[in-house]
Amino acid sequence: MDHAMLAHTAATLMTAGKGLLAADESSATAEKRFKSIGVESTEANRRAYRNLLFSTPYIERFISGVILFDETIRQKTDGGVPFADYLAAKGIVPGIKVDRGAKDLALCPGEKVTEGLDGLRERLADYFELGARFAKWRAVIAIGRDVPTHACLEANAHALARYAALCQEASILPIIEPEVLLDGDHTIERCEEVTEMALRATYTALAMHRVSVEHTILKASMVVSGKDCARVAGVDEVAERTVRVLKRTVPAAQPGVVFLSGGQSDLDATAHLNAMAVMKGSPWPLSFSYSRALQNPALRIWKGRVDQVRSAQTAFYHRAHMNGLASEGKWHPGLETERADG
Ligand code: 13P
Repeated sequence: MDHAMLAHTAATLMTAGKGLLAADESSATAEKRFKSIGVESTEANRRAYRNLLFSTPYIERFISGVILFDETIRQKTDGGVPFADYLAAKGIVPGIKVDRGAKDLALCPGEKVTEGLDGLRERLADYFELGARFAKWRAVIAIGRDVPTHACLEANAHALARYAALCQEASILPIIEPEVLLDGDHTIERCEEVTEMALRATYTALAMHRVSVEHTILKASMVVSGKDCARVAGVDEVAERTVRVLKRTVPAAQPGVVFLSGGQSDLDATAHLNAMAVMKGSPWPLSFSYSRALQNPALRIWKGRVDQVRSAQTAFYHRAHMNGLASEGKWHPGLETERADG
């Protein structure tokens, strides 16, 4: 375990004004996204799309790290350079999703536990060789009647801690992602309560498994109203509740917190991040690690067409730029149109 390397990776990822691009959609998720734009999800199309994102000119101004999928870390740019090497040469840290997906949790209807610990030590060694310097493991916590259960919170926290310990052993910085899902008609108060439980369980398990918090990054979900809740909380309320829960549960020693977008609109994801950054006073730097909220406009413009690559890159650059500004509390809605041409 190389502490200096882990600390350097964390500091690079949390560079002020930059955040992470999650481009680690599994083949099933990529299929869903491609279907929405009428493109067949073949290996060649997935490579071409990731090539579009990674080769966006000057994207390293706002993107400090990219999370790759197993298939993607083995693919190459149009010019034949492995994606991980290409990103590293741009000063962007390559990362890798190492979990094997959320599976139904036995005897707990409606709940999931993330799998992928078996053989993880060997896979991490392989990913390190391929250039990955950080990893991601996503646990999902649903909100519903009598859900989450203690069993679900414990099982997911335990898996996150085992994963994080293996990552640190391999000098790969673990991103800890306990995602509380947006789905449901629950209130924002209930989301706050569940997020607090999930984070508390996670940090208890990390301590139990001797994980060094200084060498991890938290990928958190924001505290928001359920997707079907009658009362949609405003931007300031989301920011206040999210930071409040994080302050209660996340040690100040954590080098940074990045957020997932989780199905929020692109602009909400940016506005919420900005509002949290404006509040100041958080003990950790805050930034983004979005997939959908960074990629949605680019995906819709691209539609698999070579002649649309440049416009799609402009749209991707714009979202990265807006979120980079938001991470420092420097965004306002007017910038969306002023700067839309990149
Ligand atoms: P979204 O921003 O689309 O939620 O994806 C982030 C992510 O990586 C979830 O694991």
